Amino acid sequence: DPVRMEKIVSLCKRRGFIFQAGELYGGLNGCWDYGPLGAELKRNLKDYWWRKTVQERDDVLGMDGSILTMQQVLKSSGHLDGFSDPMCDCLLSKARLRADQIEPQDGTAVWYSGAKHEASGWSTDKAFAVLVPTGKEPDSAKKTARQFYGQFMPDKKVSPKELELLEEKREELTGTTRFNPENGSLLTEAREFNLMFQTRVGASADDNDPNAIAFLRPETAQSIFCQYKNILDSNRIKLPFGIAQVGKSFRNEINPRNYTFRSREFEQMEIEYFCRPEDGLRLTDEWLESRLCFYEEIGIPREKLHILDVPDDERAFYSKKTYDIEFEFPFGIQELEGVAYRTDYDLGVHQEGSGRPLEYFDEETKERFIPHVVEPSAGCDRTVLALICEAFDEEEVTGDKGKTETRTVMRFTPRMAPIKVGIFPLLKKNEEQVRIAKEIQKTLQPWMTVFYDDGGAVGRRYRRQDEVGTPFCITIDFDTLGENGDENKGTVTVRHRDSMEQERLPVEALLPWLLERIR
Ligand code: GAP
Repeated sequence: DPVRMEKIVSLCKRRGFIFQAGELYGGLNGCWDYGPLGAELKRNLKDYWWRKTVQERDDVLGMDGSILTMQQVLKSSGHLDGFSDPMCDCLLSKARLRADQIEPQDGTAVWYSGAKHEASGWSTDKAFAVLVPTGKEPDSAKKTARQFYGQFMPDKKVSPKELELLEEKREELTGTTRFNPENGSLLTEAREFNLMFQTRVGASADDNDPNAIAFLRPETAQSIFCQYKNILDSNRIKLPFGIAQVGKSFRNEINPRNYTFRSREFEQMEIEYFCRPEDGLRLTDEWLESRLCFYEEIGIPREKLHILDVPDDERAFYSKKTYDIEFEFPFGIQELEGVAYRTDYDLGVHQEGSGRPLEYFDEETKERFIPHVVEPSAGCDRTVLALICEAFDEEEVTGDKGKTETRTVMRFTPRMAPIKVGIFPLLKKNEEQVRIAKEIQKTLQPWMTVFYDDGGAVGRRYRRQDEVGTPFCITIDFDTLGENGDENKGTVTVRHRDSMEQERLPVEALLPWLLERIR
């Protein structure tokens, strides 16, 4: 549903959830800045994940590893040689496209990807990589390509004659060869493009010094594997146990797309759960269930989640079982998290690569072995996007003067909502109302995010909070001051975002009442 997605993206910018990084200078593709509300939302998600996986469990410890990663670590893990995507080039834009996201169209020479086609200026999600036939001149190749674009652009007319021509050449144009417009030569098959960002550490000019080259980590997992022994030895913990980490990872994605869904800089929330080999499969199923509960607790209903039991031929060779947890985004059903049983692959390769023993010694059975690992690996930004997509709602309501209007409301669970409570003195000029409102603000602030607003009609203030998903709004009015009798003196109205219903609560009851609902 592209219209829904457009509305979501526009709200996120208008209200300060998410901005494109470097927007002032044209934007850095695949990178995003979270504004005030986005930062709160993301923090709520990470805090809740940490609380559930580390704080409330006896068997999982946390860590916070370095982003810069030694070459040797990534050599052993396989990232240096194998962490790549097949890439080919677009003739028209010279854009690089991920070959595995491009589908050959039935019998035509045109391939397309989901990226916007910058060179042509056509904004469509169907931009094309073009395959052109052997021996064509660059210009005519471009022309043929353009004609093909027309075939897939409903609003760009291709004449019947042109179509006839294309049909004639269909056979000739079909294939996997690509034309290089620079020198008229053919390109070979799609090539492998390593997704890691490389950088230099220190001032060494020696290219052969392995310590002079480092990488931004492509996943948080590797520092967990590399520190597994230190954590084991320093904590006297027994199998099964897990190590959890939240943090940034970097991948030079060939086609970042679908808003923040596929970014070049993103955050992961990963658990490596070490266990005995015989428990691996069972624990994978248990973790899957526990992760599904987590998503429900943050407001993503089970029926919007799909579990993909990744088939044998699509799993990594070392994995005995992998589940993908997918969510129904407006742009399709896409992966949120992978829960993979990775056997002893990771510790095994690091033991071999480092030459240091990474075995576990079982005191009771006197056995020595490399633990197996179950890995629930979630994307933080993707989950934030899922929360935003799930929360977004529009409904028809009767507004001022009985007119029907559209109410935009972000239905975040109170636990995830960026602002927990709005505080409004009914009349900004009433000193007593303002005094009480500020007092309530001071009482609540150490415990939750509050938003004080005294501008405009109270109905408008409610709407502004609805749009950012604030679950509760407190209004201090004349009843609070006892001006309409003693019955409601010292009470305020609490208005509920979803039902728009209001109730009165004593001022002293507010803090415990709210805490119970937002944790
Ligand atoms: N350690 C295993 C691992 O990194 P992955 O499936 O490559 O596995 C795990 O990544 C999760 O990280 C994904 O399910 C996704 O939520 C998130 N992720 C991966 N690449 C991403 C990207 N380019 N942008 C945003 N999130 C990404």
